[in-house]
Amino acid sequence: MTRRAPLIAPSLLGCDMGSLGDRALELQEAGADMIHLDIMDGCFVPVLTFGPGTAAAIGRRISIPMDAHLMVSRPEPLLEPFARAGCRYVTIHPEVTDHLDRLLRRIRSLGCGAGVALNPATPPELLRWVAPVVDLVLVMAVNPGYGGQEHLEEVHAKISEVRRILDAGGGGSVLVSVDGGVNGENAPKLVSLGTDILVSGSYITGSADPTEAVRRLRDG
Ligand code: DX5
Ligand code: ZN
Repeated sequence: MTRRAPLIAPSLLGCDMGSLGDRALELQEAGADMIHLDIMDGCFVPVLTFGPGTAAAIGRRISIPMDAHLMVSRPEPLLEPFARAGCRYVTIHPEVTDHLDRLLRRIRSLGCGAGVALNPATPPELLRWVAPVVDLVLVMAVNPGYGGQEHLEEVHAKISEVRRILDAGGGGSVLVSVDGGVNGENAPKLVSLGTDILVSGSYITGSADPTEAVRRLRDG
């Protein structure tokens, strides 16, 4: 089993929405490599979070990159605003579009890394056809919509499968990220399966010591 240090991307989903900039800065100081923005539209998922204006305001407070996870039914009109907001990666769900390849190319043309998020029941095979235009795959280990849910271990088999499909399809440098219920207990297993980025919300932001939580995720 290989074990490399993963990048740690805390999610702000469980934070006080009135102080997201402050929280993001604290997470940067706690050692985070990236800030994960959960963008929810109240349609693809029941909850509504925030838009590109808030993302830009958060970005002005920090120097680490942001990745926008778009849990929205219509990502097309949001790609450019989130790119302009300074997001390094913009990730979309294939379940919402008939034109995945086109949208991924569009994200890249805006200067961002293009991400594909796979719900627990979404098979990874489609990655075979878009591997050359993908920069990040977000493997969901919960059904999207809420923070603090139970991590679905059955998704673990998909992580190695995603890595295999990408490597075979010319996507060897694509980053594999895992999102949902990631904590200090399951992190070593996720990394051993080929995860490059650990997205973690409640485990970090609900901790009395976020610096220690980030360290534990990174070092196992
Ligand atoms: C789920 C989101 C998450 C998330 C992370 O819809 O995509 O990024 O809730 O929070 P935890 O780590 O608490 O599951
Ligand atoms: Zn997310």
